[in-house]
Formats: sequence, C-alpha cells, structure tokens
Amino acid sequence: MTEWEQIRGDFPVLKRLINGKPLVYLDSACMALKPRQVITAMNEYYEQFPACGGRSIHKLGEEASNAYSAAREKFAKFINASEPEEIIWTRNATESLNIVGRCLRLPKKSKIITTSLEHHSGSLPFVERARRDGHSIEIVNARSDGTFDIEDWKTAIDSDTSLISVVHSSNVTGTVAPLKEIVELAHDKGALVMSDDAQYVPHHPLDVQAFDVDFSAISVHKMCGPTGMGVLYGKAEHLEAMDMFMHGGDTVRDVKYVDGQIIPEYLPPPEKYEAGLQNYAGAIGAGAAADYLQSIGMHEIEKHERSLLSMALNELTSMEHVHIIGTDDISIKTGLVTFNVDTVDSAHDIATFLNDEFNVMVRSGAHCVHPFHYQLGIPIATGTARASFYLYNNRNDVEIFLEGMRSLIEASS
Ligand code: ALA
Repeated sequence: MTEWEQIRGDFPVLKRLINGKPLVYLDSACMALKPRQVITAMNEYYEQFPACGGRSIHKLGEEASNAYSAAREKFAKFINASEPEEIIWTRNATESLNIVGRCLRLPKKSKIITTSLEHHSGSLPFVERARRDGHSIEIVNARSDGTFDIEDWKTAIDSDTSLISVVHSSNVTGTVAPLKEIVELAHDKGALVMSDDAQYVPHHPLDVQAFDVDFSAISVHKMCGPTGMGVLYGKAEHLEAMDMFMHGGDTVRDVKYVDGQIIPEYLPPPEKYEAGLQNYAGAIGAGAAADYLQSIGMHEIEKHERSLLSMALNELTSMEHVHIIGTDDISIKTGLVTFNVDTVDSAHDIATFLNDEFNVMVRSGAHCVHPFHYQLGIPIATGTARASFYLYNNRNDVEIFLEGMRSLIEASS
C-alpha cells in the first residue's frame, strides 16, 4: 500500500458504501472528513476526563486543563505563532473574523479595505463595522480568474487605511492571494491585515510570522478537526489592545464589590477572549488535527492535492460545455476546481446528478461569495459547482468524477 492509501485508511467514513458503491468525497473545502486520530483524541476527553478546564482543581479538572493548554501549544506550533497566547479558540473562522471586525480599535474615519472575492464572513463584519463607526470602505476587485493585480492594492492602500481583510485562498477560485506583498504594502502605511485562512491552512503550510499577518482566521473543521471550532490568531500586542468580544466567567482575575458597585479586573489573552465554559473536546480535537496534518507534512499534502487538481483540470478544460471559474495556474491555486456546464440549468443540477449517479459529492451554490458571482455575471440561482480535493482523495476519485462529468454532458446535450 502506498502512503496515501494508508492515509485513506485513517478516515472511517471512507469505508462506507452508499447504494453498494464507495463514496467519492469532493467537498472538503466545505467540510473535511475526520481521521480516527482526531476522533480518538476527542473520545478520550469524553471518556477519561470530561471536566471543566481552568477551574476545577480535582484530578479530572487538572487533566482537562492540561489537555486544553497542550492543544493551544500544538496549534501555535502548527502555524508558527510566537506564543500559545496568540491562539484564541473560537466557534469558527466566522467568529474569528467578527471578533476583529468588532473589537479592533481603529482611528476615526479611517479606511477599511476588503475584496470582491471574500467569503461573506470576510467582508460583512468589516462592512458593518464601517457602517457603524463611519469608516470608509474600499473594495479591491479580483480579476475574473480570481487573481489580484498588485497595482490595485498599491492604489487602494494609502495613509488613511487602517485595516485590510483579505482571503488568502479563495473558496470559489482556489486562488492564493499575494498576501506577503499586501502585508508589506499595508504595514508601510501603518495598516493592519486580517487574513482569512479558512481555505489556506488545511492545504498549505502557514507560517504567520513569515507572512507577518496581524490576524488570521482559521476553520478547524476544514482541516480534519471537529465542527464548531475555529481559531483566531492575533499578534500579542493587538490582542492585548483590542476590546473584549464577550464578558463573563473565566475572563476575569477578580470581580470586586465595592460600595455597591461591581468592578471587574480582566485577564490578558487568551482568557480575555474565551468567556464561559469552553469546547474542551473541540480544542483537543483541533490540536490532534494539527498533529495529524503535521505528521504527514503540509508541503506533501499541498503537492498531493496539486497532482489531483492538475489531473482534473487537464481533462475538464478540454470538455465541451464546461466553463472553469478561476485560474488554471496550479502554482497559485489550492486543490479545488469550480465550474459550470452550459447545457445544465444550475449548479445544483450538476451536484445532484453526480451524487445520484456516481456517489460523487461536490458543492453547488454561490458558496457565500455572492459579490464575485455578480461580478462574473453568474446568477446566484445558477451558481457554480465546486470539486475540492484533500489528502484522502486519490486518482481513482478524480477518474470517477471525470466519468460522471462526461456522463452528465452526454445526458444534457
Ligand atoms: N464556506 C464554506 C464553503 O465554501 C462553507 O463551502
């Protein structure tokens, strides 16, 4: 067995048969499958020490606290944060983006920049912040293939700019943005950069110090971890200076009662941002997912996905009636391909056919990126179909997908 076939064996769901046939899961950009290493780590919490972290001093509480802290350390190492306190556990990347959108203090009437390619979670917290506090907002348009012209960034980023929210890897086109150059331009003008790494982190090595981003939003369920878990990475100085997102238990060192007044003294990050009882099993699962991916190697995963993407793109680009959305330059692309078929009314029809006839699971819709669909003139109801690849996919999956596509085109022409 090759190493990649062994890796497939780590994912229990891939042993399932649907209608007597194996499943071909090509929807990892939405939700990644879970390896038994992650499931086992989470079960261990529930079976061995299902207690509160950071509070109870008994044995189970101590074990829960230790596992929770160890997971933070693993995650910090995974993205090369300079200290574990720069890792904030959240519910998802959306919450991470909202924390920055709401809590970062910005100079009055300054400019926020975002793009036409953002997931709604990467644009709306900043659009709403601008509306609420009277900031201006500027949209940098992606080109129709999902790439950016760095000249547009040079024009947009000026001394009024305080914050940029940019998607590092697009969930529609798979295009990887020139993040390092954007960060350099931003920092030259004193602006901060929030990078939406939901699609980047599961598929590429991310070194937050090398990119020098101020914030990064990460979605744990897209990197083989549990649902309901996200990460906000922030440079320590920013996390210390920002306003709090929620107040409550475990965010405080003390709450005094003086002369009939309640006077809180808050803790520094990460506790400052983790109010209330936490998702301990989720954090432990996130740490296990980081360990799992690291044990395989992010460069190896990136290479594997690109070889599957290249196989899919080579065939799809030569298929009559298929229109690819996004660049075909795989050197700046995450392992996904988004497309339409002009003989089929909507992307949902594509996904339904592939699912029903071939057990091939792709995503269809506008992928929470309506502005880019409008920019391309694709009606939201038509949408686009997306096949996304991950470490557990193999060439056989791609072949079945391509067979399904040939069959769909024949049936619809
Ligand atoms: N934003 C996720 C996707 O692109 C859910 O599928």
